[in-house]
Amino acid sequence: MAERRVRVLWSSAAFAARLAWLSDRRAVLHVISVQVLLAGAMAGGLVVMQKVFGSVLAHGPAAAGRSPVLVPVVIALLVTGAAAGALRLSGTARMAVLTVKVDRLAARMVLEAAAAAELPRFEEPDFHDRLQRAVFAARRQPATAVILLVTAFQAALTVLAVGGAFLVMAWWLFPLVVFGALPAIRAAGDERSAHHDLHHELSENRRLREYLERLLTGRGEAREIRALDLAGVLTGRWQDLYAREIRDTEALVRVHARRRMAAQASGMAVTCVAVGALWWMASRHLLSAPLAGAAVAGVWLLSVRLNTFAGMLSGIGDSLLRLTDLKTFAAPAPAPGTPGTATALVPQQKPVRGDGFGSLRAERLCYTYPGADIPAVREVSLELGPGQVVALVGVNGSGKTTLAHLLAGLYPPDSGRLLHDGAAITDLTAHRERTAVVFQDFTRYKLPALDNIAFGRPHATADLRRVREAARRAGALDFLQELPEDLHTPLGKEFAGGADLSGGQWQRLALARAFYRDAPLVILDEPTAALDAQAEEQLFTSLRQLFTSRTVVLISHRLRSVRHADRIYVLRAGRVIEQGSHDALLRKGGHYATLFRTQASPYQDTSAP
Ligand SMILES: Nc1ncnc2c1ncn2[C@@H]1O[C@H](COP(=O)(O)OP(=O)(O)OP(=O)(O)O)[C@@H](O)[C@H]1O
Ligand SMILES: [Mg+2]
Repeated sequence: MAERRVRVLWSSAAFAARLAWLSDRRAVLHVISVQVLLAGAMAGGLVVMQKVFGSVLAHGPAAAGRSPVLVPVVIALLVTGAAAGALRLSGTARMAVLTVKVDRLAARMVLEAAAAAELPRFEEPDFHDRLQRAVFAARRQPATAVILLVTAFQAALTVLAVGGAFLVMAWWLFPLVVFGALPAIRAAGDERSAHHDLHHELSENRRLREYLERLLTGRGEAREIRALDLAGVLTGRWQDLYAREIRDTEALVRVHARRRMAAQASGMAVTCVAVGALWWMASRHLLSAPLAGAAVAGVWLLSVRLNTFAGMLSGIGDSLLRLTDLKTFAAPAPAPGTPGTATALVPQQKPVRGDGFGSLRAERLCYTYPGADIPAVREVSLELGPGQVVALVGVNGSGKTTLAHLLAGLYPPDSGRLLHDGAAITDLTAHRERTAVVFQDFTRYKLPALDNIAFGRPHATADLRRVREAARRAGALDFLQELPEDLHTPLGKEFAGGADLSGGQWQRLALARAFYRDAPLVILDEPTAALDAQAEEQLFTSLRQLFTSRTVVLISHRLRSVRHADRIYVLRAGRVIEQGSHDALLRKGGHYATLFRTQASPYQDTSAP
């Protein structure tokens, strides 16, 4: 177990070093050179100190001023001190920029890995957990790890330098002092590992707590939470979750504090033994007095450094272990030669695939959500001819949205296949490029309306004329033009000068985004749920003109709205149970006919097809 941790620690340290190297290799070389020079100066200082002691003792304290070595030594110390100060400053300056670059690279890796993940992965709790931990780890942890790594390197160099100086004084001091410090280093490492394990154990707890925080502070939720007077209950749960974290942390700290104190005491005892031995040897003339003096200084310097190193190891261990979360989630860092310049996030100019969609056929599609027992879509086959409008209907939970996601290429089916013009679709990314979807729970981008619409074609430069046209077709242009800054007004009260829209207005923006995408296959999942009756009627009656020569999949609960579709598929429990035109399905007198009559009965006078 401990061995595995040490291995993880080393591989994370190597990862942190690689991050730094890829971010700014010149800065890394600069910082390393500075540390090596400073350590060299320290080793030299100890040897010089021994010479000064010798000289002072040889000439007597009163005549020390006339010592031939004293003046050059003092001058050399002053010059070295000034040079070391300048070196340290230049190293700190380079480190400040290096850490920002390292953070950028780490964050970029997480963003790229998250963006590259296929949609079903977001349904897996484990993926979500790992993503959240990686996001957490990417936030300042990599920079901290690099800073600590440099400090550890500096400590290691100091140990080497002092150890080197000991070689010319009393070699046996080195293993003695290092041996004395080992328990403290080990205890610090164990404590860090325990903290890391606890962090993992509490990740579910923390996720729930953060969700409650979002509920309690979110603008969208504020209304309902007040209406239900829910804040007290939610805060209570939040307190309970925090209490558990504090309790577990306290228990862990208590155990490890005791261990670390015992380890430090044993280290101090070993240092005392070393100093005592030097004293004894000097009094018996086994060691010259100057040598013993310099050696005591060296022992003190070394034990202080080793103790600092042990203390720091907690920090290093923590940051490095957190870095494993980042390392295991994100793809390996980019190949050397592409330091810090995001390329994958720079949009490529990929056009949405143009006209001539042809036909789309689904053959026996099946899909079960990760972690679910029952399939959401079972053995569904359907056919969409060029330019056709096909409707999916069914009660809540019958699988319409899931099927729409499969048709859009967002989920790969567990079995079955999609065919485009008779050829099996294997490249879902390419299929998504020729598809526009208005989701049932579409995203409200808190950005200007212009972005909300132009995101329909994110890889092309926004064409303002076409954006306006898309807004007009979705019935959004009038209210957008009344905003303080027209299409450029930020849509989010969180931003200066920001405006907000009504639910129906947001839905029109989502529709405008689909119009702007201008893809040959259009999937509309409850596109009018938030629209007023008049707007809904208008959209459905003009659907064919609005999406001329586009193939449309339409999902709606209002069966009056789908009656003009070329073909209607009725779903129940993930299966297609009926299909045909509105008239044919009514004649059949099955599930659809019952649903339609139930909906139509209050409006019998207007429900005629
Ligand atoms: N992310 C998910 N993870 C697990 N199960 C899911 C998920 N989304 C939907 N389901 C389940 O899959 C089934 C089909 O859901 P789907 O959203 O496709 O239904 P729907 O017909 O669109 O319903 P509605 O009319 O309410 O929009 C339901 O039983 C639902 O509980
Ligand atoms: Mg749905």
